[in-house]
Amino acid sequence: MTSRPRIFSGIRASGDKTLGNYSGGFRQYVATQEHGDAFICIVDLHSITTAYEPEGLREATLSLAALLFATGLDPERSTVFAQSHVAAHAEAAWLLSAVTSFGELRRMTQFKDKSEQQEFISAGLFTYPVLMAGDILLYQAALVPVGDDQRQHIELARDVAERFNQRYGDTFTIPEGVIPDEGARIKNLQEPERLMSTTAGAPQGVVRMIDRPDVVRKKFKTAVTDSGSEIRHAPEEKPGISNLIEIMSVATGDPIASIESRYDGGGYGRFKDDVAEAVVALLEPIQQRYESLRDDPGELRRLLTVGADKARATSEPTLRAMYDRMGFVTPGAAGSA
Ligand code: AMP
Ligand code: TRP
Repeated sequence: MTSRPRIFSGIRASGDKTLGNYSGGFRQYVATQEHGDAFICIVDLHSITTAYEPEGLREATLSLAALLFATGLDPERSTVFAQSHVAAHAEAAWLLSAVTSFGELRRMTQFKDKSEQQEFISAGLFTYPVLMAGDILLYQAALVPVGDDQRQHIELARDVAERFNQRYGDTFTIPEGVIPDEGARIKNLQEPERLMSTTAGAPQGVVRMIDRPDVVRKKFKTAVTDSGSEIRHAPEEKPGISNLIEIMSVATGDPIASIESRYDGGGYGRFKDDVAEAVVALLEPIQQRYESLRDDPGELRRLLTVGADKARATSEPTLRAMYDRMGFVTPGAAGSA
């Protein structure tokens, strides 16, 4: 095969993006554009499933676009767009809800976790994985780069695709999740048993991609470590240090084993300082590009419009095939047969 694989991923336009998002998301998006045609979708329709402010959503959507380009997504090669600009996503979610069962959705751990944090549990929070399945399937994506927390959602998207293909005829490529071996679950620096996330856990343990260098340094200085003093990657036994080793590996590209041997016997204090410096060095150039992009919202809107046009043209044939195979009458010009 000479054709490049189709790659799709989505990222929510909400909250501040973290080092976890960088590791499981951004870093992978940029790497995959070397190997295939990447569609990276700012999933603003997903953002409304939990409490949010309309003005905040608008702001977060443009900020996220700036951050995606700042981390190295190249608009010439990759298609970056907002989900709400391509109506096919909302339509596909409705059509696919016919081949997704209540029982499947009820088993989703993200729904269980997030619904516990909400006062108002929206129907959209429950059907969220159907929208996500549609995102992926509309593009006939073969590969879906994500962090480990999305494993179950990807599995559901595959099941939904197989069920649709069986019931209505071969329509969808069965997608595969691409989850990095290292850094797929970056933990909160204060609570290394918990995923790093802006929606839960100690804020002091959450490193945001737009945190200033002094803030980053302070967060690493106060990171919890484990008993003993060995710098060794053993997530069960030494969750704090193992997390820091993974972060070091993500920030520098060095393999875990070489980090372990470099810091062998060096002590926790120096290691924490070095991880902080590696993260500062990673984030500083991203932040500089981010700020100049963010200063030009007109250009960001233009880039998103170009992306949406490409995404619309790419997803349209699949959406038409879905309607057709499901038995809907094709709309035609008046008088045509
Ligand atoms: P979200 O901001 O929730 O849309 O997540 C965007 C991407 O970041 C998804 O692929 C997630 O799996 C990934 N991600 C989120 N948190 C983490 C984390 N703590 N470690 C690794 N990947 C993460
Ligand atoms: N559910 C994903 C998350 O919370 C975001 C997402 C939406 C996504 N649609 C997607 C990820 C399609 C990959 C592919 O992070």
